[in-house]
Amino acid sequence: MKNAVKRIGVLTSGGDAPGMNAAIRSVVRSAIYRGIECIGIRRGWNGLIHGDILPMDVSSVNRIINSGGTILYTARSQEFMSPDGQQKAADTCKLLGLDGIVAIGGDGTFRGAQALSKYGISVVGVPATIDNDIACTDYTLGYDTASNTAVDAIDKLRDTMQSHERCSVVEVMGRNAGHLALYVGLAVGAAVVLVPEKPLNFQEDVVEKIRRARLHGRTHYMIVVAEGAASAIEIGKQIKEAIAIDPRVTVLGHIQRGGCPSARDRVMGTRMGFHAVEVLAEGRTNRLVCTVRGTLKDVDLMEGLAMKKTLSQQQYRVLEAMTGV
Ligand code: F6P
Repeated sequence: MKNAVKRIGVLTSGGDAPGMNAAIRSVVRSAIYRGIECIGIRRGWNGLIHGDILPMDVSSVNRIINSGGTILYTARSQEFMSPDGQQKAADTCKLLGLDGIVAIGGDGTFRGAQALSKYGISVVGVPATIDNDIACTDYTLGYDTASNTAVDAIDKLRDTMQSHERCSVVEVMGRNAGHLALYVGLAVGAAVVLVPEKPLNFQEDVVEKIRRARLHGRTHYMIVVAEGAASAIEIGKQIKEAIAIDPRVTVLGHIQRGGCPSARDRVMGTRMGFHAVEVLAEGRTNRLVCTVRGTLKDVDLMEGLAMKKTLSQQQYRVLEAMTGV
C-alpha cells in the first residue's frame, strides 16, 4: 500500500519533562520504521514559525532515552498565540511538506496544536508535563521522575529536620493542580499536605495537624505545599506566628523537572511516541495520545482539552487517614 504520509515534524513545547527525549526518539524511529521522514522542530511553536529545523535520522536519537530535558529545546511562544504566528507556522509546514506534526507537551502545547489544525495541518499530541494535569489521560510523561526527584529531596530534608527537631515546609510544583504534591506527600509520609483543590483552613489543616503529631510524640514535621495552594514562605511565617516554631522553608522549584527519566517515563515515552506516529500514518488528525487504566489510546484533541481533571479522591482519603490521627 502506498504511504500517503511521507514527512512529519516533531517538537516539544512548554515546560520540559523527563521522558520527552524518549518520546522524540520513539517518534523518529517509529516514523523511519514506517518509511516516513521525520524532521525535528527546535524551540517548540516558535521554531515552527521561524523554520528552526533539524533533519533527523536513526542515529540523531542515539543515547537520548536516558537523558532529561529535551534535545529539541522548548519554549513558551507568545507569537504563536496570534493568528499571524499560527499562519506563519502553517506556512512553514506547507513549505517543508510536513504531512503532520507530533507535539509533545502539556495543556498549552495542545491548545497550540488545536489552533494549527484550523489551518489544515494534521496534529497529534503526546502528553508530557510533571503536573499530570491533563484530564483525558491517567498519565503524563515526567510525573513519575519528578515525583521521585521530590521524594528523594524531601527524604534528605527529613534527615536534618529530624536531627534538629524542626518543621520543614517544602513547596513542590504542579501549577494549579495538586496531583504531584498529593502523591509526593503520601510517599514521604508528610504530616500536612496542602493542595489547591481543597480550600485552606490554616487552623485545621496545619496547626491542628502539627499539634496532634506533637501530642503523639513527634518532634519534627514535614509539610508539603503545592505551589498552586499557597506559598511555602507564607505558610512558614504563619506557622511561626501561630505556634512559635521556626520552620525551614524549601522551594524545590525546577530541580523537579530535571534528571534521568525513570523506567516508567522511558517506556511510556516510547509507547506514546509510537502511538502518535501510528495515528498520523493512519491519516487521522486532531488526536491526543492518552493512557486510560493502563491502555494506550487516543482521543479527540478538543474533547480531551475540554475535560477537567479532579484530584484522586481515593488518594486524598488515604492522606486524610495518614495525617488525621
Ligand atoms: O507545567 C510544568 C511546570 O513545571 C509547573 O509545575 C510550573 O508551575 C511551571 O511549569 C513553571 O514554569 P517555568 O519553567 O516557565 O518557570
